[in-house]
Amino acid sequence: MTRIFIFEVNCLKLIIVFTSLIFLNGIECYLSVPLKTVNEREKSEEVVTQVQEIDRAVIPNDQDVLDASKPLIKANVGGKPGLGFYIELGIGTPPQELSILVDTGSSNFAVAAAAHPFVTSYYEPHNSSTYETTAVDVFVPYTQGEWHGRLGTDMVTIPSSPNSTVRANIVGIYSSEKFFINGSEWQGILGMAYNSIARPDSSVTPYFDSLVGGTTVSDIFSMQLCTPFSIGNNSSIDSSGSMTIGGIDPDLYDGKMFFTRIKRKWYYDVTVTDMGVNGHSLSLDCKEYNFDKSIVDSGTTDLRLPQKVYKKLMSTLANQIEDVYVPDTFWKGTELMCWDIGTVPFNRFPTVYLDLEGPEDDTSFRLTIPPEQYIRWVNGNEPGKDCYKTGFASSTTGTVIGAVVMEGYYVVFDRQNNRVGFAVSKCAVVNGNESLVKISGLRVKANSKECIYDTSDSDSVLVVISYVLAGLCVLSVLPVFILYGYHNLKNMFKKRMSDDHSTDGEPLHQPLDQTTENRDDAITDSQSQQW
Ligand SMILES: *[C@@H]1O[C@H](CO)[C@@H](O)[C@H](O)[C@H]1NC(C)=O
Ligand SMILES: *[C@@H]1O[C@H](CO)[C@@H](O)[C@H](O)[C@H]1NC(C)=O
Ligand SMILES: *[C@@H]1O[C@H](CO)[C@@H](O)[C@H](O)[C@H]1NC(C)=O
Repeated sequence: MTRIFIFEVNCLKLIIVFTSLIFLNGIECYLSVPLKTVNEREKSEEVVTQVQEIDRAVIPNDQDVLDASKPLIKANVGGKPGLGFYIELGIGTPPQELSILVDTGSSNFAVAAAAHPFVTSYYEPHNSSTYETTAVDVFVPYTQGEWHGRLGTDMVTIPSSPNSTVRANIVGIYSSEKFFINGSEWQGILGMAYNSIARPDSSVTPYFDSLVGGTTVSDIFSMQLCTPFSIGNNSSIDSSGSMTIGGIDPDLYDGKMFFTRIKRKWYYDVTVTDMGVNGHSLSLDCKEYNFDKSIVDSGTTDLRLPQKVYKKLMSTLANQIEDVYVPDTFWKGTELMCWDIGTVPFNRFPTVYLDLEGPEDDTSFRLTIPPEQYIRWVNGNEPGKDCYKTGFASSTTGTVIGAVVMEGYYVVFDRQNNRVGFAVSKCAVVNGNESLVKISGLRVKANSKECIYDTSDSDSVLVVISYVLAGLCVLSVLPVFILYGYHNLKNMFKKRMSDDHSTDGEPLHQPLDQTTENRDDAITDSQSQQW
């Protein structure tokens, strides 16, 4: 992991800070000042208090995406709860039908091309008359799991729409580690993000670009992901949903659709402007929410958050629970909670919200995430009980808006207009007639541009500046070192090293991976590609 330096560093100020710290505190100033992750500037009250519902549409003119003359391709989505959502694709000639995980967090299309204990079938290129090989080997590491494969091309078709057949790049996976999941029912992964993150490089055209380039389909797709929130005795219940290629299906959502800008075309990288619990903001500097990116990722199960945001959210949630004992280990993700079927006290848990940048600088829209969504059902193998795990996890690679959030919404990846749309899904969780998932437009005082965590351009210059300043600090501190003597110095280094360990640690997954009942589940924590 790379440490990133403050960007609003004012060199002069830093030197002054250093110098005064040297005099005030002796050597304690050592390096920790310039190496903070995001600047510590305290909360943007604007976002917190000035939230105001706007009824003026934050919706776009939908004509361009609801053009009825354009062909729409529909594919059914299936899956096991928490183990990923897949569609059927036919690969090769004659078509070999395989189930393929739909992953908006990566850009390679790859399928098992050799037997593996966790896949029931695999792609056999030698049985396809249209397969063409290349000599290129590809390796892709994900947040969890990785694979090695051989790049080739073949005809790919969506079975419900035979004239969708195009030639596409396919990687045949010949070896993998923690990638395939026992019981997940899929045998490959369809990376739906942009070519800039394709492996081994951006010249490997992703499947969706080939489809748009080779047919009359528009450059847009939408996903409705559905998972029942109580499964009870019937553990054969599946996730379901629908993928619409080439446009938006108005039958799959209710009410208004809100769009947020894709700020950079690699992942579907959007801007989170606020987050909170029961309508109250976590009150962090909004850059923290986007440190160092915020992606919409159907291949990740949880809502993954930068460590600082995650910690604040977990402590806020723990304080807001009423009349239910919820152990810390549940929030940490190391323990399940099980209740008798039908008695899960969802109404004791607060609602979380996530605000995304709206179409203007001073607008946002709010996605609510009710407990029925963020407390995820898992198979705890306890007869008569429903078992759950928290749908939040901490991340060192930015915010990942995974299936836990997407399951409430019909999500539109409007590539032709550079934006992602959200509307309340027809399969979102309801209480009687009322949807528990809500979306609303907000007028906010803060400028959402200030929330962007920009790692480009000035990055390298600032890194250099930071090193120079760090060097200056060391030099100026040298005489003090000598005064303190060698012994003290040694102790100080020891202390700093142990501090670093405690802040960098990712406490979440390791213990979970050990327990057998949760193993499958833990693996799906992310299929977003590591970068
Ligand atoms: C497939 O063919 C049908 C009928 O000719 C047409 O309506 C549809 O738009 C075509 N689909 C694509 C993706 O080209
Ligand atoms: C996969 O899971 C099934 C039951 O869910 C189990 O019977 C089987 O042994 C598992 N396979 C492997 C290779 O672990
Ligand atoms: C679930 O199964 C248990 C025992 O297997 C049974 O006692 C219970 O009544 C069942 N619950 C429901 C809601 O069907």
